[in-house]
Amino acid sequence: MITILGIESSCDDTAAAVIQDEVLLSNVISSQKVHESYGGVVPELASRAHQQNIIPVVDQALKKAGVSKEDITAVAFTRGPGLMGSLLVGTSFAKGFSTAMNVPMIEVNHLHAHVLAHFIKESKDDDNQPKYPFLCLLVSGGNSQIILVKAYNEMEIIGQTIDDAAGEAFDKCAKVMGLGYPGGPVVDRLAKEGDPTKFKFNKPHLQGYDYSFSGLKTSFLYLLRDELKKDAGFIEKNKADLCASLQKTIIDVLMEALRRAAKDLGIKEVAVAGGVSANSGLRAAFEDHAKRYGWKIHIPPFGYTTDNAAMIAMTGYFKYQDKEFCEMDAAPFSRVVM
Ligand code: KG4
Repeated sequence: MITILGIESSCDDTAAAVIQDEVLLSNVISSQKVHESYGGVVPELASRAHQQNIIPVVDQALKKAGVSKEDITAVAFTRGPGLMGSLLVGTSFAKGFSTAMNVPMIEVNHLHAHVLAHFIKESKDDDNQPKYPFLCLLVSGGNSQIILVKAYNEMEIIGQTIDDAAGEAFDKCAKVMGLGYPGGPVVDRLAKEGDPTKFKFNKPHLQGYDYSFSGLKTSFLYLLRDELKKDAGFIEKNKADLCASLQKTIIDVLMEALRRAAKDLGIKEVAVAGGVSANSGLRAAFEDHAKRYGWKIHIPPFGYTTDNAAMIAMTGYFKYQDKEFCEMDAAPFSRVVM
């Protein structure tokens, strides 16, 4: 029996999870509220909160899983990419745990883990995992990528944003409408009552399968600037339509490149991962593509879309099979190419 403790601390969520032979036993996340009043994550506050949270979070994860420290076979942790101070807390904890319990330590690339979240089993007979090769659209606050996944340890980015990430486009446009941070979920909620065809925004046409969202953000800003000159109540009166039109544009851009990639490569197994995969419009677009193009789609449960440690433990489980352990001098990295 292989029991992996996963630790995630790359940004503002302190998380721990236990996976036993591919089956998730516990998944505990402590989200930091301290950043809300700043409109974004404050790195120094994030690392301090991780320090306070890490031990209680791990303790809860072990208790919920019904296992003790002695039952853990290996500890997997996010080595990067992410905020340096935040990563240091999880990395240091993993080193301490590994030394104290005399178990191997496994480093995990956070982006790989988002993709591998699709392999988490909620029960022994859960067999809905993707088959290789598959495409994964990874969309979060910091990434928009199309990844060709050939094996758990063989991933190739075939398209990516050349400027802003999709989540950033949601958040930045939401911010100028005064919708708070992170704005993505608010846009999603308001879009449900709006007309997605009311406003038209820039859609870039790029080579290959790359994305660009900075033009969209600028055209969104210019529309607001021009309309607010005529009517100071423009945003308030059109909030739902603005959100619906913005969301539709972002999804159209994301799906267009993904559709082309799937067609060119002859792949019908398509997954989505990352925080933006919680978006109801994007989920609906995936379902629509499944019907229209015969795709077999993989949409993660909400709990595995945003940052979590279940995906770190899952990746750790795969790496454990190949004895891919890391040394005590493994330092976190803030940026990475996959
Ligand atoms: O993967 P994630 O939790 O971490 C970061 O990369 O930071 O992604 C967070 C991003 C934020 O930009 C947030 O606005 C976006 O995911 N997001 C959404 C929704 N839920 C989260 N965007 C659109 N619709 C949503 N329902």
